[in-house]
Amino acid sequence: MAQTDTTARGNWNSKLGFILAAAGSAVGLGNIWGFPTQVASNGGAAFLFIYLLCAFAIGFPVMVAEITMGRKTGRNPVGAFKALGDNKLMYSAIGMWGLICGVMILAFYTVIAGWTVSYVFEEIFFYLQMNEWATWISDTGNGPINAVFATVFMGATISIILGGVSEGIERATKFMMPLLLVILVIMIGYVLTQPGAGVGLEQYLVPDFSKVTAGLVFSAMGQAFFSLSLGMGALITYGSYLSKKENIPEAAAYVTLTDAFIAFLAGLLIIPTMYMAQAQGVAIFDESGNLLASAALIFQVLPQLFHEMGGLLGLIFGGTFFFLLSIAALTSTISLLEVPVSYAIDEHNISRRKAARYIGGGVLIISLIISFDTSLIDLFVVIFNEVGLPLGGFLICIFLGYYWKTDNALREMESGYPNVMKSVFAKIWPLFIKVIAPLAILYNLLSGLGLI
Ligand code: PHE
Repeated sequence: MAQTDTTARGNWNSKLGFILAAAGSAVGLGNIWGFPTQVASNGGAAFLFIYLLCAFAIGFPVMVAEITMGRKTGRNPVGAFKALGDNKLMYSAIGMWGLICGVMILAFYTVIAGWTVSYVFEEIFFYLQMNEWATWISDTGNGPINAVFATVFMGATISIILGGVSEGIERATKFMMPLLLVILVIMIGYVLTQPGAGVGLEQYLVPDFSKVTAGLVFSAMGQAFFSLSLGMGALITYGSYLSKKENIPEAAAYVTLTDAFIAFLAGLLIIPTMYMAQAQGVAIFDESGNLLASAALIFQVLPQLFHEMGGLLGLIFGGTFFFLLSIAALTSTISLLEVPVSYAIDEHNISRRKAARYIGGGVLIISLIISFDTSLIDLFVVIFNEVGLPLGGFLICIFLGYYWKTDNALREMESGYPNVMKSVFAKIWPLFIKVIAPLAILYNLLSGLGLI
């Protein structure tokens, strides 16, 4: 039964609305760009396997934790920690760290999302044989062009956030997520029936366990946190708009499965496509035999293949691909911006309009700096994504497990899951939150950084 948006903060109209919005946050560049390129250079299915392990054994329990904290308190990440902890300063710092990571991730994500839009134009110009225009608009090293597209993308993000929770975020993602799935499936159907796709499939689905190192496990974990939008409070925020009657573990399971499934599908599209490009003579390895960097694969190799296809087919395929990436990115940037916006609304009594405009504008300034020095992206990825998100997840586990206590969290879940106390879930989940997830995160962080 649909409920109406009665609170000032807003809430989701339906369970499906929440699941699609949360899945929209999760499914993004991380799935369609990050995951396939990491799989391809990290031993194919071996990475896939470790990634899935991280997503289900670490990501899923943390997702349940975040949504529950959000729903219990009805607050943004900073407010949620404040409400549940007595040492307000210390605990709200965990939420604040998440907020900072979110803002910085949004800043670089917006620049990359801008590229995905500029490449839709690139494909169109190429089709119209305006090759110079195509080259000009798609130059990811061109500061002013990056700045323009980053601004456009941030504008789109802000305009959805201005609409609010159900009328803005929920409405947009309910439309965009199914569209994304349809486009993805059609494109896979095409690619897998092309000659040469088999080599890519083999690279993807046959595991090479000799490539598994501490560094790889660290990357897989960072990728899982990023892809599931965990560790910075996006799901605390989305959980805060969730009705008491919804079943949190079930909803989190749907979101985790959807995210993993879309990442898997993206692998089926990108990896065979990469090897098809190679069969056409496009280089996908560098001189030392390593796969090209992910940005080069997506923004150089794939467009070259689209151009090889030529004519209308190239335009439809290439244009649609970058459009797909843009939609996936947009449903993620709205969740990244919603976190600081909800913080400003809850904690500083600022209207949604003002919060969305000023915070969006402020983050855009960082995006503009990155537009002119794109090498900052790598640095931001390491600090705020690879280290920042797992660290946030670790702190959430420790806080929930030892301070707020898993029993209290389970009690919060009861309203939408009446038998939770007697379920298998109630026996296993606390163990993951208190012991398995924090230990795994800590070990991976330390070994990935070369500290142990
Ligand atoms: N999950 C998004 C992706 O895969 C990125 C993201 C990270 C969104 C953190 C929100 C919070 O692209």
